[in-house]
Amino acid sequence: MNPELGVCYYPEHWPQSMWAEDAARIVEAGLRWVRIGEFGWSRMEPEPGRLTFDWLDQAIETLGAAGLKVVLGTPTATPPRWMLDRHPDMLAVDENGQPRKFGSRRHYCFSHPGYVDECVRIARIMGERYGRNPHVAGWQIDNEYGCHDTTVSYGEPARQAFRRWLAERYGSVAALNAAWGNVFWSMEYGDFDQIDLPNLTVTEPNPAHVLAFRRFSSDQVVAFNRAQVQALRPLTDAPLLHNYMGRILDFDHFEVGADLDIATWDSYPIGFLSDRLEADAAHKATFLQQGDPDMQAFHHDLYRAVGRGRWWVMEQQPGPVNWAPYNPAPLPGMVRLWSLEAVAHGAEVVSYFRWRQAPFAQEQMHAGLLTPNNQPAPGLAEAQQTAADLAALGPVEPVQARVAILFDYPSDWAWATQPQGAGFNYFRLVFSAYRALRRAGLSVDVVPASGLDDADYDLILAPGLATLDDALADRLRAAAKLTVLGPRTGAITADFQIPAQGRPGLQALDCDVALVESLPPEITRPVQGGGAAQHWVEWLTGDAPDLLTFADGTPALKGSDQLWYLAGFPDEDLWDRIVGMAAQKVGLTLHPMPPGLRRRETATHDFLINYNATPVDWNGHSIAACGVAILKRNPPGQE
Ligand code: GAL
Repeated sequence: MNPELGVCYYPEHWPQSMWAEDAARIVEAGLRWVRIGEFGWSRMEPEPGRLTFDWLDQAIETLGAAGLKVVLGTPTATPPRWMLDRHPDMLAVDENGQPRKFGSRRHYCFSHPGYVDECVRIARIMGERYGRNPHVAGWQIDNEYGCHDTTVSYGEPARQAFRRWLAERYGSVAALNAAWGNVFWSMEYGDFDQIDLPNLTVTEPNPAHVLAFRRFSSDQVVAFNRAQVQALRPLTDAPLLHNYMGRILDFDHFEVGADLDIATWDSYPIGFLSDRLEADAAHKATFLQQGDPDMQAFHHDLYRAVGRGRWWVMEQQPGPVNWAPYNPAPLPGMVRLWSLEAVAHGAEVVSYFRWRQAPFAQEQMHAGLLTPNNQPAPGLAEAQQTAADLAALGPVEPVQARVAILFDYPSDWAWATQPQGAGFNYFRLVFSAYRALRRAGLSVDVVPASGLDDADYDLILAPGLATLDDALADRLRAAAKLTVLGPRTGAITADFQIPAQGRPGLQALDCDVALVESLPPEITRPVQGGGAAQHWVEWLTGDAPDLLTFADGTPALKGSDQLWYLAGFPDEDLWDRIVGMAAQKVGLTLHPMPPGLRRRETATHDFLINYNATPVDWNGHSIAACGVAILKRNPPGQE
């Protein structure tokens, strides 16, 4: 595969007289793709039924004639103002019962049937018009589902749809009462129509109720996306895709992705480090202008799984963004580094956001590849350099990793519903495992539970997987030489009850959990020989051998030949020990990395990626500050 570059462009923001020159400059910079249209509804249909697509026809023609491939967005993340007059109840409603009003974007409820119909209508109109246009080489449906906390809504359309969803899932209200344990606090219902959404209760609602609502809300996103997929499929052969986000977990991306051809995501490394990562002040200071060395890679690996191997970066940060609390500029070299790192993880396309900085509205402080007055911004030279690097590199072919992390969206919903300790967060736990594998220089796959059947790994880590039945436990064991479960793996049923027969995943081990406790951030439980558990500790019983013990002699890790169970949330040192022990057991070679240096293998190349502001020497290679070393691998048999 020959990876390519692209850019997000908004013809509707600029006079038509600029388009041809823009197209020529985009091509000259070495970019091959351009994404357009995703917020353009008020210009496509300024009044209900009055279609004004001439500008878009000409924009596509101009870009295409310059040699660019177009990804066309359906504009359904930004319904125009008149839509509210047609569907006054389409706005999402927040947890306090207030409508989330017009005046920005994503102002809709996924469950509103009238709005879904409008989206299908506009998708069909666009598909009929552009589905066979030779310049349109991809379709983005909507934009960033879940952005701005928009997956859930507490309004009437969601309430009605939730009741239907529950009736279908449980069959009878008696079954629902039993599954949720509604006898507790006299919460039993006599009819599905009595069931409300789980907001504005006096104290916490039943966690089973909340988890059901989270599952339902995710299903509504899947259905919303599917409606547009079904409208577009018959009208085009071009791939359908969506642009997902960083650490947004409110809907099941694997399920949305199953209906699409390619997963893409929007990578803003410096913004993410500042606004959504737990890290100490020193780490945030060290990587202030580079981003966290594992955050982008994790999402690359996650979305490769969501796209079943096919994925892009649709929006790559090109300079300072506007939306984080502080918005420093990337260090020189970082825009190129982020782009090449994506290629190392298998991206087909890396597309920058955006071509030219807008002089107006909400994102006027967000950098582009050009300044608002049309001069090159610092990101442009790096995009050009990356294009030259890719041309010199030639094809990059993927390779299957030997280790994998199981990722499961409902587990995040479950532990967000009932954290039991303020430090317990599913993403945080999984990401701490991922970081440890990367510190050991390993390339990692992320897999969903549904992706285990053909899998063949040396090692799978499945920390915090909330629900694990016997069948999934068997599939996990079949998919790897060694599976590491825990903490909290298999702790609840799909209906948020404590499993009657103990932890299903532990049946194969002579091991059970007698008690769980959570810890405040300043307290840890040291493990003999080094490292500690933090945030969460389980008291394990049973005769399975203790592989590690806490300072007081109680088990910290128990295990048999193929299955280990971890009793706490490991700190860095403890994860490093566990990865080391597991690697030794399954015969994996580790490549310990200096801080801030990361390694990713492909079938054709090894990439060494230096997130540090200083050069690093490793294994005879010298990697520049914010630089990437790309080592060609010998073809098999010639190592
Ligand atoms: C993304 C979004 C873009 C733009 C960008 C700014 O979340 O898809 O439309 O808002 O962020 O960084």
